[in-house]
Amino acid sequence: MDAFKDRVLAGKVAFVAGGSSGINLGIAEYFSHHGARVALLSRSQDKLDLAVAGIQAAGGEALGIAADVRDYAAVEAAIAQVQRQWGNLDVVVSGAAGNFVAAAKDMSANAFKTVVDIDLLGTFNVLRASYAYLNKPGASLISITAPQAVKPRVYQAHVCAAKAGINMLTQCLAMEWGVDGIRVNAISPGPISGTEGMARLAPTPEAEHAVKAHLALRDYGEKRDIADLALFLASDNSRYITGTIIDCDGGSKLGDADLPPLPPLPPRG
Ligand code: NAP
Ligand code: COA
Repeated sequence: MDAFKDRVLAGKVAFVAGGSSGINLGIAEYFSHHGARVALLSRSQDKLDLAVAGIQAAGGEALGIAADVRDYAAVEAAIAQVQRQWGNLDVVVSGAAGNFVAAAKDMSANAFKTVVDIDLLGTFNVLRASYAYLNKPGASLISITAPQAVKPRVYQAHVCAAKAGINMLTQCLAMEWGVDGIRVNAISPGPISGTEGMARLAPTPEAEHAVKAHLALRDYGEKRDIADLALFLASDNSRYITGTIIDCDGGSKLGDADLPPLPPLPPRG
């Protein structure tokens, strides 16, 4: 009996932008485990080679293409290369992102633009460039957004703006491309352990403790939590779901579960 026959993504081709590390690599590894051939895109060929080697060592089929998601022509060339090698794409994940902690008043216009270009323009580039190379009907596109899209945060103006744009773009594309049988959804992860994102946002044990205290479930999630949801959205099991932004975040948007006392308001003038 073919060991791969019953795997939910058997015979499928998946393209994961930002797939050389972290949450997105976790998704790519999981897709591979469930039978997909996975193509990874990010800027660093070294990181890609390592990620591809890991997937291959586990028995999967993978390739890594170095490109910057801000460069439409490079993204399209990468997708066309995958299509020539493996055929049309069934699943596309757009998860490349950049983040740093900075107050808006200390941020240059280029700093703001850099994050908007990687996250929002990059997601447009990846999803738009994939359109001609998708298996239609049936393709599933997944953007990776964040709670910052709907919950304003200090020192995250660039990320909040970029991820809010991703939410709206995801829904607009779902409306336009539903007629082609393409589904477009987004996953909004909460704080996930062992990631570059949380290393930047909560770099000390104290900061990590404070993040957890404010979550309904009081703990970080794991890459596997996001990968499980991505697998569902990639598979035909979610065939009637499109245009949704699905939270996988330990209740991060519900409100602050355990806030310390607030400082007093300034006196009325
Ligand atoms: P990560 O490991 O730093 O992943 C980012 C990926 O994007 C890397 O593969 C990076 O590889 C690639 N990348 C960055 N800039 C790029 C560019 N201009 N062009 C192409 N690729 C680029 O971060 P992560 O923490 O796992 O985050 C992954 C995703 O989850 C992001 O969309 C993030 O916003 C979202 N998210 C994360 C968390 C969390 O807890 N970590 C929470 C909510 C949402 P190269 O350096 O090789 O380019
Ligand atoms: N605070 C304020 N501004 C910052 C900054 C910080 N911590 N880090 C970078 N910038 C500014 C730079 O000064 C520059 O602006 P300037 O030209 O006016 O000086 C601008 O942002 C672009 O920086 P640069 O280093 O040239 O960008 P890049 O394209 O090489 O890298 C980043 C993009 C900055 C987002 C980089 O951190 C990165 O590659 N991140 C990917 C990994 C990541 O963020 N993972 C977490 C995902 S949630």
